[in-house]
Amino acid sequence: MSFDVGAVRGQFPILSEIIDGKPVHYLDNGASAQTPNAVLDAVRTYETTGRANVLRGVHRLAERATDAYENARVEVATFLGVAPMEIVFTGGCTAAINLVAYSYGSLLKPGDRILLSELEHHSNIVPWQLLRSRAGIEIDMIPVTVDGRIDLDKLPGLLTPRTKLISLAHVSNVTGALIDVGAVVAAAKSVGARVMLDGAQKAPHGPIDLPSLGVDFYVFAGHKAYGPNGIGVLWAKAELLDAMPPFMGGGSMIGRVTFAETTWAPAPRRFEAGTPPIGPAIGLGAACKWMRALDWTGAHAHEMTMVQHLMDGLQKIDGARIFGPAGLQNRYPVVSFMLDGVHPHDVAQTLDSFGVAVRAGHHCAQPLMDRFDLDGTTRVSMAPYNSRGDIDALLTGVRHAAKTLR
Ligand SMILES: Cc1ncc(COP(=O)(O)O)c(C=O)c1O
Repeated sequence: MSFDVGAVRGQFPILSEIIDGKPVHYLDNGASAQTPNAVLDAVRTYETTGRANVLRGVHRLAERATDAYENARVEVATFLGVAPMEIVFTGGCTAAINLVAYSYGSLLKPGDRILLSELEHHSNIVPWQLLRSRAGIEIDMIPVTVDGRIDLDKLPGLLTPRTKLISLAHVSNVTGALIDVGAVVAAAKSVGARVMLDGAQKAPHGPIDLPSLGVDFYVFAGHKAYGPNGIGVLWAKAELLDAMPPFMGGGSMIGRVTFAETTWAPAPRRFEAGTPPIGPAIGLGAACKWMRALDWTGAHAHEMTMVQHLMDGLQKIDGARIFGPAGLQNRYPVVSFMLDGVHPHDVAQTLDSFGVAVRAGHHCAQPLMDRFDLDGTTRVSMAPYNSRGDIDALLTGVRHAAKTLR
């Protein structure tokens, strides 16, 4: 049976809203995706039938809340093919990377090196720069090819015995390029380095079998993966989490506290100080369950058909240039483009007047923009619920912008 985009759309109430007389053509999923009823219902059930704090209470509501919170951890772990005790809930993807940079980073010595790429999101650059200031580590950078992929041919030449971690986007939030994880892991092994993947743009496109990828750390954000805001995930191998000191101190993350000394709880609690984002975690658990039930073979084929339709349409518009891979191989449905002579913000504003939501600007990837001397791009980022109608509305808007703004 072919992929039924209408049935998927029907599960997302916001997609049938009419706002200022216009339908919602939501193509800004790379910034934040929409949430299906399954997620809204799970959060509402917690708030209306089980709201309490977790871990500390002995009353029935506290037990319900704790069960729901820990079940969410199981759902996330199942989505990633790993053990629940290796899942740390964080405030977001940025928070997860900062946790690793602070905690794993505290195990590094001056002169140790972290390898990033030129296309990383700022949240996979700045935490390492903070660590550099704090701890005297060095940062190396893998350049990007002209079609917006991390140039893995350059990887071996950048590795040294001091390289301790390679941290890269699994999928680029600007070009949609998917990285060859096997090549990165093999190269990392040759010098004994760890690998972290920033899965912010990959996790929203279906379950991930982390054990088969062979990486050491994985992070993603709930709000981009059909879940609530304010929740993110860090996965790390148990042996690594056990070796890492806490990031933040407070309630719930301790074994025993005296004024002389404090001992830590085992992972993951050691990394979840204070009251965690309980409702958002429960919502993310529901989002992972929802994603596991989706036909991703059909969804991915549908998304790629939409990408092709978009690229074909853009190629027919005078002055429109795509930035990123030209084909469908090893790419996800994020497409950046420029319209010669028109600022990306003006393109996006015109599109908004057609009911089309996209992102414009540097996409928190200024080093990548600098490399290609770009002010920014207009970015179309899709989810399985995006239809041909969404892409057609976008193309109509871009044609209008090309005609009226140049
Ligand atoms: C590749 C990538 N990494 C990290 C982030 C940061 O995610 P958050 O702002 O949810 O922490 C984003 C957000 O756009 C992203 O696209």
